[in-house]
Amino acid sequence: MPWKNDQVSEIETEKIIELARNQLSCQGDFVELGCYKGDTSLLLAEVLKGTEKKLWIYDSFEGLPEKSEADESALGRNFKGGELYVTKREVKERFLRAGLSVPVIKKAWFSELTGKDLPEEVALAFLDGDFYESIRDSLKLVESKMAEGGIIVVHDYQNPALPGVAKAVEEWAREQKKTIKTYQSMAIINN
Ligand SMILES: C[S@@+](CC[C@H](N)C(=O)[O-])C[C@H]1O[C@@H](n2cnc3c(N)ncnc32)[C@H](O)[C@@H]1O
Repeated sequence: MPWKNDQVSEIETEKIIELARNQLSCQGDFVELGCYKGDTSLLLAEVLKGTEKKLWIYDSFEGLPEKSEADESALGRNFKGGELYVTKREVKERFLRAGLSVPVIKKAWFSELTGKDLPEEVALAFLDGDFYESIRDSLKLVESKMAEGGIIVVHDYQNPALPGVAKAVEEWAREQKKTIKTYQSMAIINN
């Protein structure tokens, strides 16, 4: 792997690549909500190289939003509004430097996005917004777009520093009657 992923562990990175490769036979594109510098986006783009599928990535490009009460934890003090700031241009330039197709890159708060901002069908959704409202909004956004056999991967589901992620996933899974599988910190939900 020519670039280091500093937000996702190596073992999780391997799993994401494996899941992404498996999803190549599923209808639809790949989306990532919460791309930050694009480390995982680059991996996904590498998997999609030479295929018809597109990658769509989303971020505020203003860093994290403010926390809600559901996100409070002693371990998560470093996760604050405005942290993880990066510009859209920096992310775009990383793709150009890597010689990979530049994905559809959308700058928005997830709460401002609608179905029109997403592809018609999603084969793989990687959700990495860290906070309760960010994950809740991401799940709501992708739920009606998931292809038959599509998968949703939520990072930090089992991260005690980010308790809002598990709360959002569990509320949504209960409502949608979905089963949550886990791998390291991630939740994996099959459509
Ligand atoms: C942990 S980083 C993502 C890391 C990235 N997925 C990776 O693998 O390298 C979280 C990102 O989510 C974005 N984010 C979190 N909540 C958001 C929201 N509600 N709307 C838009 N962007 C959000 C932040 O700006 C930040 O860049």
